Amino acid sequence: MPSTNVSSSAIQPIRALGLKPGHCAVVGLQWGDEGKGKVVDMLAGASDSDAAEKFDFVVRYNGGANAGHSVQVGEQRYALHLIPSGILNPNLVNVVGNGVVIDPQQLVKEIRELREHKLTVADNLRISDRSHVVLAYHKLQDALLEQAIAKLHGRAAIGTTGRGIGPCYADKALRCTAIRVADLLNERHLLSRLTDITQIKNAQLRPLADLCGEAFEPFDPRKLLDELKPLIEVMRPHICDTAALLHGAQSDGRRLLFEGANATLLDIDHGTYPFVTSSNCSSLGVHTGAGVAGHYVSNVIGVVKAYQTRVGGGPMPTELKDDIGNRIREKGREYGTTTGRPRRCGWLDGVALRYTAAVSGVTGIAITLLDVLADLPQLKVAVAYQHQGKKLTNFPADADVLSAVEPIYETLPGFKGPIDHCRRFHELPAEARAYVQRLEQLAQAPVVMVSVGPRRDQSVFR
Ligand code: IMP
Repeated sequence: MPSTNVSSSAIQPIRALGLKPGHCAVVGLQWGDEGKGKVVDMLAGASDSDAAEKFDFVVRYNGGANAGHSVQVGEQRYALHLIPSGILNPNLVNVVGNGVVIDPQQLVKEIRELREHKLTVADNLRISDRSHVVLAYHKLQDALLEQAIAKLHGRAAIGTTGRGIGPCYADKALRCTAIRVADLLNERHLLSRLTDITQIKNAQLRPLADLCGEAFEPFDPRKLLDELKPLIEVMRPHICDTAALLHGAQSDGRRLLFEGANATLLDIDHGTYPFVTSSNCSSLGVHTGAGVAGHYVSNVIGVVKAYQTRVGGGPMPTELKDDIGNRIREKGREYGTTTGRPRRCGWLDGVALRYTAAVSGVTGIAITLLDVLADLPQLKVAVAYQHQGKKLTNFPADADVLSAVEPIYETLPGFKGPIDHCRRFHELPAEARAYVQRLEQLAQAPVVMVSVGPRRDQSVFR
């Protein structure tokens, strides 16, 4: 994921993106790493100014430390996984909503890193007391499940980030083995919960470790508590009922910016199941994950890369295992922010785009990394799939079908670079404009921004 720069820009992005009054969600329309951070950062940065049109809160509503966004201030680069991207702006309140799963170790690491650089988070970070807590046994379970499936099937299971995301959301659904942030606030209660839960976890994880041929050291509730205690003290002043906070803010006419983590094709309900993450990462997750009703969110910006990438397992019909794929990976620096894994690269999948734009109900599209495609002689876009002699125009639910489809491509002429100096749509080469317009038709939503470089100002608004 590209880093973003917090230097202010002359344009007013809220106006430039044509946003209607009300809240806004920024969501990814592919398999993640679309560059949502740049759009969030631009909109959050609009609050540097005294413009009447600004956001007051940046809210995370889903996922956990599986997401990654880097923010740059001067020479310093901050890798954020849990803390919302507006944290570097003291005028914004940053909320980690109830739909997020929080690893206290990771959260406190991020808070400490910011504090070391004299960036105060005291007043502008709020953590939901309803969020669920990721603990060491979740991370172990995540790793062991991946290993067990690999052993049984000779292939990687989901290719998770190993951050304990799935097991923590599973406990949330199970209820009896879950720990919420509110449970951290009472030591006696917490110890009693950990005592029960570790007995269940130890009974479940030992045979799983055996299956994988791994040694297993049982979890000790006291030890877990002792590790948690200093972390809880750092978190304590930030913990509150964030839904109530947001409801109050709405009543006061404040504007909320929802920062999606992961992306619509990784959505647990609407993504390429089972090769998905465990939360609703589409815009549909905003409502349950923050406690803000749907009709208040009048703007949904869907972020889409000019090509397709995916990290981890699962079908990807337009994947390129050739020189063009390698060229896109190197030029786009397509390596994971959270795990450093090389991303699989391919042509833009228009079938998937039409589907995800509809699922997330986008009101505008931001295309990122268009500059990466410069100087390719031709550009291809999948407009339908071929499956067992039939043409599919809808995105299939079944991962086996999606693995077996052949993309039906439309070929468009390539464009010459560089384009990173372009600031107006008409300054882009005619072929690049035609490519953008084709994406717009496929997504059935207006393209409001095209990003032509990592910096905030390297953007073309329409
Ligand atoms: P998990 O979220 O760690 O359980 O991983 C599930 C799948 O989602 C894996 O294929 C991950 O690579 C993928 N994934 C999760 N978060 C992100 C993200 O922020 N960007 C890209 N892929 C992600």
